[in-house]
Amino acid sequence: MAESKIRFPKNFLWGASTAAHQVEGGNHNQWSIWELEHARAWAMQSEYQLGELEKWPLIKQDAKDPNNYVSGRAIDHYHRYESDFDLLEELNMNAFRFSIEWSRVEPTEGAWNIEAIEHYKRYVRSLKERKIEPVLTLFHFTLPVWFAEKGGFEYRRNVKYFVRFVEKVLTELGNDIRLIITINEPEVYASQSYYQGHWPPARQSKRLTHRVLKNLAYAHNQTARMTHKLHPRYKLSIAKNSSYTYAGDNALLSRKTADAMQYFSDDYFLKKVIDQCDFLGVNYYFSNRVYGYRVHNPEEHVSDMGWDMQPANLEFVVERLWEKYKKPIIITENGLADADDELRKWWLQHTLLALQRALQSGVRIQGYLHWSLLDNVEWAYGRWPRFGLAEVDYISMKRTLRPSAHWFGQMIAKLRKGSQ
Ligand code: BGC
Repeated sequence: MAESKIRFPKNFLWGASTAAHQVEGGNHNQWSIWELEHARAWAMQSEYQLGELEKWPLIKQDAKDPNNYVSGRAIDHYHRYESDFDLLEELNMNAFRFSIEWSRVEPTEGAWNIEAIEHYKRYVRSLKERKIEPVLTLFHFTLPVWFAEKGGFEYRRNVKYFVRFVEKVLTELGNDIRLIITINEPEVYASQSYYQGHWPPARQSKRLTHRVLKNLAYAHNQTARMTHKLHPRYKLSIAKNSSYTYAGDNALLSRKTADAMQYFSDDYFLKKVIDQCDFLGVNYYFSNRVYGYRVHNPEEHVSDMGWDMQPANLEFVVERLWEKYKKPIIITENGLADADDELRKWWLQHTLLALQRALQSGVRIQGYLHWSLLDNVEWAYGRWPRFGLAEVDYISMKRTLRPSAHWFGQMIAKLRKGSQ
């Protein structure tokens, strides 16, 4: 593999991503209530849902245990962030994406929790002192209970509460912040929560899905306007879940279907917010190979969750987005569930080469943030999917860097040196 030839731009951000609810522990929000209500049912249905997975014999014990689904103390990152940041340094990283949990900062409407704000100030300060660029996410799937009870993003009139929360966060700790993700994967949230009904508030309505998407776009745009007024230093984007959808053959139907799918999954939402994006945050996990009007993926490599993996296609994702929107790109998430660390190095190698090819073809890429630094709670799947560069022992909470992480850390050091 031609790793040594890779030249990344000076100041390229090398890092990892997390989200508050998945790592912090001790959260009380719409999701924590939902998990408690559903843990038993998820455990009971797990064999039916997951029994076909190749890794079922290995995950079965966890998947059948209701505790798997309750975030509880998660990985206790709230208290262990300093030693988790040590891992970033060990990996030679210079960037870290995390989210601030709205339900901690504003546990009841209009009442700010000073203790939580002080915590996040110390948190961000610690990153800065280590010369690690903080990439702040403001909404990563979880909502305060009071906001959810008002109907959350179903109503345009509720957007002002989100903007007020962001303004508070930035007035308190914004001095240390430059890069901001307003909303993580808007379509994933809208689809899981309002179309498929797998996530709270578990609605199944096309009309509502559409409305929530519109309101999320409005929320991004309003937040960006407010934020840019606060200080021109702030650079914003959403974290766009972007897959690569392509025709598997030359048939007209396959090509038309692939184009339409790509449009609806990427451009439909992006068009509403792109004018208020200073860069483009991209989360890449999947490709869709289309035959006729169906997706049939090669499945040569699948993750522990059964997801088809085509890391090299990241090149085409970013080339397409650059061509179309001409905004600098930061990969805000990218990774795989791989408990035994069998394929993570392979994934990372292909990803780095894909980024290199995209850079060579002129795409402006400013950073790569791997999902995730640590094993964490994977939403309705719970703890068994292991996305971490570091493995977490859920009993002792001990963190151990996986072999692929050591490799990646050394590679980052080389690449950073090579780009100076
Ligand atoms: C989300 C993360 C999630 C990851 C892996 C993304 O959709 O932003 O929260 O853990 O993918 O599924």
